[in-house]
Amino acid sequence: MRVLGIESSCDETGIALYDTEKGLLAHALFSQIEMHAEYGGVVPELASRDHIQKALPLMQQVLDEAGLQRKDIDAVAYTAGPGLVGALLVGAAIGRSLAWALTIPALPINHMEGHLLSPLLEANPPAFPFVSLLISGGHTLLVDVKGVGEYELMGESIDDAVGEAFDKTAKMLGLGYPGGPALAALAEKGQEGAHIFPRPMTNRPGLDFSFSGLKTFALNTWHNSDQSEQARADIALAFQTAAVETLVIKCRRALKQSGHKRLVVAGGVSANKSLRAALDALPKVQVYYPQLQFCSDNGAMIAFAGAMRHQAMVVETEATFNVRSRWPLDELTPPASA
Ligand code: KG4
Ligand code: ZN
Repeated sequence: MRVLGIESSCDETGIALYDTEKGLLAHALFSQIEMHAEYGGVVPELASRDHIQKALPLMQQVLDEAGLQRKDIDAVAYTAGPGLVGALLVGAAIGRSLAWALTIPALPINHMEGHLLSPLLEANPPAFPFVSLLISGGHTLLVDVKGVGEYELMGESIDDAVGEAFDKTAKMLGLGYPGGPALAALAEKGQEGAHIFPRPMTNRPGLDFSFSGLKTFALNTWHNSDQSEQARADIALAFQTAAVETLVIKCRRALKQSGHKRLVVAGGVSANKSLRAALDALPKVQVYYPQLQFCSDNGAMIAFAGAMRHQAMVVETEATFNVRSRWPLDELTPPASA
């Protein structure tokens, strides 16, 4: 079975074809980062308009690369939330129309489930159950995963997502948008121990996070510094070290609480090298990540999530569809035949 995946929840148009027997056949991505960088963040209306322009050419590119035609697609999976409503509507409208025209199933996919399952695209995928740490620009979640669609929320951020805190701190340090990768690169030039930032919410029980204070701490440290290049790098390192250690402490706690021995990390921030090094050093735990190109938003994870759910699909004859700006993971249920 071949599933076409369409991702358009934010500032990346991602299209991919996943074959349940052969694996990922082809994928293509267009990032709008350059366009939004000018405004210091994502402009939703511009994002929607660009998805409209890029989705069909990318789809053609993916079909050409796979040597297939539209009639060879067996199902269409599209991101139906969470995300920017206008951007989501583009992928949903295209996905639904295509499925309608080809009389094949259309499957609305939860974007965070896409991230959560993305490490399963790799050659040695983790077996269920596992703890999932989902860290992106909009979410910081710890999830107890027993199977596809069996998600129990263990902890989440009560304010900024960790990626958002990276982005806001980077912006404050004048690093542009999106700041996560730039801040991580700058941290490499920082002096270890120049500043010690707090590890929020780690000295009390529980698995929730809070990252907005860390950003304020960085801002105050910057104002009290000589605002030199070295000061900038030292703050970047202190921020990253605190964010990483906070995530690691909570992961350790979540693993202990659940009894699971596998940790699966996904979402844009899972590309962070310092985080990967710290998690890989955890004793008696096997840690899994998506490959770097699938850490941030992409069509492959949506096609894959669609394939994982294909048993539950029925041929949708309705031409209506819905998207959701908010869609908690624990509202999902397993595919009917799982
Ligand atoms: O998953 P994603 O592409 O989009 C959302 O669904 O939000 O995640 C994007 C987030 C941004 O906040 C970006 O700054 C962050 O991931 N990010 C990083 C790194 N690469 C991307 N944060 C820290 N270190 C990185 N290397
Ligand atoms: Zn994402």
